[in-house]
Amino acid sequence: MRGSSPRVAGYETSPNIALIKYWGIRDPRLNLPFNSSVSVTLDRLRSRTVVRFDPKLSADRFRLNGTELSGGPWEDVHRFLDRVRELAGLEDAASVVSTNNFQTASGLASSASGFAALAGAATRAAGLDLPPRRLSQLARLGSGSACRSIFGGFVEWERGTRADGRDCYARPLFDEHHWPELVDVVAIVDGAPTKAVRSASAMQASVETSPEFASRQRELPARIVAVRRALRRRDWARLFPLIMEECDSFRRVCETTTPSLDYLTATSREVLEVVRETNAIAGEPVAGYTHDAGAHVHIFTLRRHAAGIRARVAGLRGVATTHLLHAGPGGRTVRVPARGTVA
Ligand code: PMV
Repeated sequence: MRGSSPRVAGYETSPNIALIKYWGIRDPRLNLPFNSSVSVTLDRLRSRTVVRFDPKLSADRFRLNGTELSGGPWEDVHRFLDRVRELAGLEDAASVVSTNNFQTASGLASSASGFAALAGAATRAAGLDLPPRRLSQLARLGSGSACRSIFGGFVEWERGTRADGRDCYARPLFDEHHWPELVDVVAIVDGAPTKAVRSASAMQASVETSPEFASRQRELPARIVAVRRALRRRDWARLFPLIMEECDSFRRVCETTTPSLDYLTATSREVLEVVRETNAIAGEPVAGYTHDAGAHVHIFTLRRHAAGIRARVAGLRGVATTHLLHAGPGGRTVRVPARGTVA
């Protein structure tokens, strides 16, 4: 069906940082992961996307942070829009205007918030009112971790066991008000390379070549139960070592992949060391680090330790800036200005 007039909608989501990482796809067509993962959706950072299906357009258009994109990123968006058009029985091309209020493709999970925002805006513009779980499944097809950014607070993406992926979706564990004392000090590292290989391809190289991949898979179910329990009990003394253990396991898999995947800079490694030292000096785990497929480091700690840790990390050469973040809200509709083109 071609519409007679443009249909427009806007949606906004925040990136999430995984405490238990998704790394490995068992079905590339449906983006089904090998393991479940757990994340925190963050406040303050956001991707905002406006989609306009317009019968006057001859092809999809994609603007990100003011730049018209073509090639790979355009194709990803175009393929995603095709799925939405198919679901809605729509044929119109769309203009997608998206902005991130943070650095794109640098390990701050812009693909997660980006595809979650695209899923929300495109479905609404197409007149589809999908329940959050369905929206999460759709976002997963754009980028796996995007399925978790539909929800706020603490989120689990269940791997599911069905071949058709119907039991593979994200669900909220605890909302963003569950643990106000928990903060995320993010160290933004200078010279963080823009990803050379997309995560989806990199993780498949790990599945195929890392000798650590299988043992990691065996460890994960128990670690997920432990992280869930630590979150429920707000048990920082348990949570912080667990997330470091998980991050180290993820990094080992990356490093033992052929060719080796190294996302960190020397400064990132120093930040990890600061966290280890801080815990050693305190005699208890007052903080825990984690990072995704990028050089920036997230340090989870309690509000009362945040200023001290932030000062230590900010003082390192090579740390460009630090952010103080908390658990934040899930996806939300944004009002679109009258002309519908500005995000
Ligand atoms: O969703 P993708 O394809 O960008 O992969 C994300 C992978 C990690 O960020 C490293 C882990 C995760 O669970 O978010």
